[in-house]
Amino acid sequence: MSQDRGSFGRLGFVLAAAGSAIGLGNIWKFPYMTYDNQGGSFVLVYLLAVIIVGLPIMMAEIVIGRSTNKSPVSAFLQLHHPAFSIIGWLGVVTGFVILSYYSVVAGWTVHYFIKGVYWSVQGFTSAEAATLGDQFGAFISNPSAQIGYHALFMGFSVMVVIFGVKGGIERLTKILMPVLLLILLSLVIVSMWSEGFTEAMGFLFRPSKISPDSLLEAVGHAFFTLSLGMGAIITYGSYMTKKESIPRSAAMVCLMDTLIALMACVVMFSLIYSVPAVEREQFSSSIGVMFTTLPKLFYGLPGGIFLAPLFYILVAFAALTSTISLLEVVVAFFIDQLNWHRVYATLVMGLTIFAFGILSALSLGALTGLSAWQPLGDKSKGVFDTLDYLASNWFLPVGGILIAIFVGWVLPKVFSRKEVEKGHGSFHLHGLWIFLLRFVAPAAIGWIVYSVIFLGKSYN
Ligand code: PFF
Repeated sequence: MSQDRGSFGRLGFVLAAAGSAIGLGNIWKFPYMTYDNQGGSFVLVYLLAVIIVGLPIMMAEIVIGRSTNKSPVSAFLQLHHPAFSIIGWLGVVTGFVILSYYSVVAGWTVHYFIKGVYWSVQGFTSAEAATLGDQFGAFISNPSAQIGYHALFMGFSVMVVIFGVKGGIERLTKILMPVLLLILLSLVIVSMWSEGFTEAMGFLFRPSKISPDSLLEAVGHAFFTLSLGMGAIITYGSYMTKKESIPRSAAMVCLMDTLIALMACVVMFSLIYSVPAVEREQFSSSIGVMFTTLPKLFYGLPGGIFLAPLFYILVAFAALTSTISLLEVVVAFFIDQLNWHRVYATLVMGLTIFAFGILSALSLGALTGLSAWQPLGDKSKGVFDTLDYLASNWFLPVGGILIAIFVGWVLPKVFSRKEVEKGHGSFHLHGLWIFLLRFVAPAAIGWIVYSVIFLGKSYN
């Protein structure tokens, strides 16, 4: 007997999918990518990538999920295209892999939230400020701290997913998403009074030089940040009711994700531009910027004692609504495909992913063998970096291109039109949408894959 899969209530899909999309990619990755790529034009290209590649693929994923009410592997089987269920298999592997290392970084935000509370109560001394880099280095190479926080974050994720779609995922995202928006909004308002605000806005929105590499990075990031290419949105789409409009929901998710990313940039750049130019040098694409530079900047601001812990709890919340979607992809596979009970599937897979993630947790300095492992030559260093490289450069783009080809070329147009029009009414842009899926998205993603294979580039 198969169990009730559950479904989202009103706004449930939009909030859960936005929760999945909004995460470390928005608050941690996007600002430093924008900084490295000179601001203005990069932001513009990124916005374009979201509209012409991200949005059409998001709609395609929802169509596959909602029309079948199945998680990815079962969905393609039900649509009588077993060959394409490779997308589902790839998605489960990708969800497993991304979650295993994403949860490690998510754990850091919990640690820094606790540290932030401590600093705010005890005082953030200049000695603390001077040793932030060393403290971070010691933290990420401390095996028990790394495994402990990773375990804690996996534990939180398991506790949500175990309660199912409505009682767990929807309930949590309905609380956390408004809280997240409120915290970020208050940070934006405070940053408006900082010295660097005007310069930050200029950096973000004034056209700047752009290289072909930045274009590729923008498209690649659009995938990661919108949670596309690995079946997370197919899975959430399978819980969406027929009353909801697919184009409107997808547009809302893309809009919210972009707004949050831009707001995070406004906050960070206002902080960065409030310090003298020489100190700004430290802000580059390094893994630890959020932990080594930001505290110093926060505590230099009036009200910093509130802002710093608030900021880290915001990032932790954003990460949690993403980790639950990654775990859900894996769990839904075992429920749909092998008929496992949700509680059992969540516990077993949560534990397995945690165990696998220990390799990443120990590869940031704790164990030399894991930290120096370079199976792909100089493309990546250590388990953590290698898994991120593989997921961002290979798994997500390949999954994305297959999804675009499937809905663009293989799925009959009458079928996709009928599904999109349920809960929406007549959809005048159907032709344009299919055109983007057939030609634009595969060309853009194909370009990424080509440059990764033949030009040796990487975009993580
Ligand atoms: N979109 C998330 C972020 O920007 O942090 C990361 C992510 C979550 C990717 C879920 C893929 C996914 F399925």
